[in-house]
Amino acid sequence: MQKPPENIIEIRGLWTVFGDFVVHRDLDLDVESGEIISIVGGSGSGKTTLLRQMIGLEQPTRGSVRIFGEPMENADHRQRLEARKRWGMLFQQGALFSALTVFENIALPLRELRTLPEDLISDLVMLKLDMVRLKPSDANKLPSDLSGGMIKRVALARALALEPELLFLDEPTAGLDPESCESFVLLIRALHRALGLTIVMVTHDLDTLFELTTRVAVLADQHVIANAPVKEVIALPHQFVKQFFLGERGQRAMEVLREYPFIV
Ligand SMILES: Nc1ncnc2c1ncn2[C@@H]1O[C@H](COP(=O)(O)OP(=O)(O)O)[C@@H](O)[C@H]1O
Ligand SMILES: [Mg+2]
Repeated sequence: MQKPPENIIEIRGLWTVFGDFVVHRDLDLDVESGEIISIVGGSGSGKTTLLRQMIGLEQPTRGSVRIFGEPMENADHRQRLEARKRWGMLFQQGALFSALTVFENIALPLRELRTLPEDLISDLVMLKLDMVRLKPSDANKLPSDLSGGMIKRVALARALALEPELLFLDEPTAGLDPESCESFVLLIRALHRALGLTIVMVTHDLDTLFELTTRVAVLADQHVIANAPVKEVIALPHQFVKQFFLGERGQRAMEVLREYPFIV
């Protein structure tokens, strides 16, 4: 008998209120194991906040967030630490430490969260560097010596340092030129397959979304109005959906969709 898909993330009745400003109102969201879910929504609709709540960096005003079946709201330090070892996050700006080399940036989570001998750390860092298609000689560079695409790759290597099952990507291709964007998307797709990752991504970029996503969660009217395959979401008669997918940018991306029929 086939095992039913497991929810890696389960959000129920989540509210986020800043002063009298309601960002999320009674929001529910499930993420199943193995999928690449894209969260889309207008600017300021609360996408980044939601990611931060999923990883326990922020507490919702009300409601529950379960990650790997564990409720985060009551988690103690040890439980948070255990969960922390199972996910990686690529922050919106790459967020590398500018004073640290590429090597030291990737080694950071290994030093913080694992007790490993130095030679093993070195092996693991070089392995991750190779995984994101960077050269061993890049290890000693500083972030200021890197192109935008390389910074994203180093940030990805760092997010993968602890060999997570779950990867969060906040606008992973924003600010990249089309060529770097395309190769980064291919890299994420290859790693998703090779490592059996579950990916939760926020993106405005329709090419990235169409090429990677298995399901789209639409954040509008303060909650998730749809969580479905791209094809179903596009057909929704909601104002935000129409603007997002069927505007001028959307038309071009729809052509990409026709080139990648396997995603629908
Ligand atoms: N700590 C905070 N205090 C007050 N307002 C906040 C805080 N964090 C986020 N906001 C507000 O909540 C809204 C959602 O922010 P954010 O999650 O960054 O949106 P998105 O990523 O969708 O653009 C924005 O209006 C933002 O200004
Ligand atoms: Mg954001």
